[in-house]
Amino acid sequence: MQEPNWLQELIDHLHTKHASHYEGEIATYIPELGKANPDHFGVAVVTADGRVVEAGNSDVCFTIQSISKPLTYGMALEAYGEERVSKHVGVEPSGDAFNSIELEKITNRPFNPMVNAGAITVTAMLYQHYGERTFHEIMSRFSAAAGRQLEFDEEVYRSESRTGHRNRAIAYLLLNFGMVPEHVEAALDIYFKQCSILVNCRDLATIAATLSNLGTNPITKAEVFDIDRVKDMMSIMFTCGMYDYSGQWAYRVGVPAKSGVSGGVMSVVNRQVGIASYSPLLDSKGNSCRGINLCADLAQELGLHVF
Ligand code: DON
Repeated sequence: MQEPNWLQELIDHLHTKHASHYEGEIATYIPELGKANPDHFGVAVVTADGRVVEAGNSDVCFTIQSISKPLTYGMALEAYGEERVSKHVGVEPSGDAFNSIELEKITNRPFNPMVNAGAITVTAMLYQHYGERTFHEIMSRFSAAAGRQLEFDEEVYRSESRTGHRNRAIAYLLLNFGMVPEHVEAALDIYFKQCSILVNCRDLATIAATLSNLGTNPITKAEVFDIDRVKDMMSIMFTCGMYDYSGQWAYRVGVPAKSGVSGGVMSVVNRQVGIASYSPLLDSKGNSCRGINLCADLAQELGLHVF
C-alpha cells in the first residue's frame, strides 16, 4: 500500500533538516567502527500495518550493536521466564554509562539488560540454554523480525573481540559473583557476534514495527516474539534504552527506544509505527546526535509521546 505523501514529505523534510548538522564523533573504541562515513544518514519508518517510508541512506548497512540487547533479553525471558532471569539481571536504570562496571549493591546483579554487563549476562544465559546453537538462534530471530536473512560483519566482530578488554573484565566480574555460568569466553564471543549483525534502517524499522505490532512482523506476518515479552522489552527500552540519557529521552521524545554505538537508533510507537535512523556521529553518551534530534522532531510533529 502506498503511504500518504504527507508522511514521506515529513520524513524527507526532517532528513534534510538534520543532514546538514555535523555534531558528534564517530566511535573508535572498537577500531573498525572508526571507518564509518560521517555523511551517512538514513531514516526509515514502518507502520504496524506494514507500510514503509524511507529517506537518505536508509539502505546502508551498519552493525546493530546495543540495539541487539532488548531482542536477546526477550529471548532469555522466553527461554527462562521472568523469575529466573530477574535473579541474574535487574530492571532499574543505572544512571551510568553503557560500559559501566558497576553492579547492584546487595544482589550483585547488573542494573538492567541494556547496559553491557546486563546484556552479557543475558547472552550467557542464552548460551546455557541453547549451547553451540546460540548465535544461530539469535540470528534467526533477528532475521525473522527484520523480514530477511541477516548477516554479520566479520571485521567488526574481530575488531571488538580483539579489543574488548573492558567487556571481558565485566564478564569475569559477573563470573566472580556467580551471575553468569563458567563459559564466559563462549558467551563473550556470542555477544561480540550479536553486536556485529548487519542491518540497515529499513531492517531496523521493521524490527521496531514487529515490536510495535505486538511481536508479529507486519510485512511477513511471522510471529517473532511472544506478546508478553514485547511488553517487557518495551518497558526496559523506555526506562533504560538510551543509557544515562534515558530520562531526558523519556521526557523529550517519550517512546521506547534503543541506541547502538555504530549510530543506529530504533524507536517503537506502541501499535502504530517503528522508526529507525542511522548516523554514526555520537554524543558523549554514545547516542546518535542526528538520530536523537530527528526522532524528537518527529515525536513533536506527530504527537508520539506516550503522555
Ligand atoms: O559492548 C559494546 O561496547 C558494544 N558492542 C555495544 C555498545 C553499544 O552499542 C552502546 N551504545 N550506544
